[in-house]
Amino acid sequence: MAQMTVETGGVHVRVPAKINLALAVGPMSDDGYHRLATVFQAVSLYDEVVAIWADAGEVSCSLTGEIIGVPADSSNLAVRAAELLRQRYGGPDRDELGVHLTIKKAIPVAGGMAGGSADAAGALLACAVLWDIDADPDDLRELGALLGSDVPFALTGMTAVGTDRGTHLAPALTRGTYHWVLATSDKGLSTPAVYQRFDELGLARTGLLEPDVALLTALASGDVEAVGAALSNDLQTAAISLRPSLGELLAAGKDAGALGAIVSGSGPTCAFLTRGENEAVDLSIALSHTNLATGIKRVAGPVPGARLLS
Ligand code: C5P
Repeated sequence: MAQMTVETGGVHVRVPAKINLALAVGPMSDDGYHRLATVFQAVSLYDEVVAIWADAGEVSCSLTGEIIGVPADSSNLAVRAAELLRQRYGGPDRDELGVHLTIKKAIPVAGGMAGGSADAAGALLACAVLWDIDADPDDLRELGALLGSDVPFALTGMTAVGTDRGTHLAPALTRGTYHWVLATSDKGLSTPAVYQRFDELGLARTGLLEPDVALLTALASGDVEAVGAALSNDLQTAAISLRPSLGELLAAGKDAGALGAIVSGSGPTCAFLTRGENEAVDLSIALSHTNLATGIKRVAGPVPGARLLS
């Protein structure tokens, strides 16, 4: 399967964006990261990564799509992912391995939807196949956690509970498909800046960090209204404090009938849950009239994580 894909012009992988349906954040640990209890859902908005052989030792990338602010050099997270895979799993012939990655971006940059992590996850999978590397999904997730907190989930997808830095994953039972409207901004928010504001505001939870039981129960029974009511994000106040218009955007979505409205991760993308596809169309029209968002997208979840496209 891998060989066939290589011969037809590279290994092609697509990777979904994520929404955090719940995000409980504790204090910062000694490693500089906050401990989390989160519920991730992967949604049908994808970046694509194509890996083709390059000269021995070369690891490079080019970018297409929504790429403003994304580096195309060795600091690109996908390039770092390929390099890390080569070093750790390339074996004695690692110096012979080379790759050029073409990354087609649709996930908003610095948008709170793990676009950079998606590209890293895509690069890990595509290069593992291209180079015929013997690494199982757990190996890739472990490498992914070294690159970014959301990379293991981008490999896994569906709906999952994430703990520690968001890197320890357990599947969450869900029924049905959830229809979301995403309101995106062409001006990103820096994740470290949002966490810093979170700390400045003294918002870290002091008690036990646990995924929200009401949300998990609602997901397991497919009760979309209860899921909407249980959405929560501890970073939301910090994101709104840095970008006050997000508060207006969330209120506009609720006024227009969303069952739940939330900043996705560190923002500024906002996610609105609707009862079904028709309601999502109606809500996207209403939100596009507010001029509070640069882009409106309709997506559904859960969807699988990084996958080969044949
Ligand atoms: O892991 P990732 O590179 O996505 O994290 C970006 C930044 O977000 C980190 O450098 C850190 O400032 C912040 N962060 C955090 N706690 C987490 C995840 C991210 O403080 N659990």
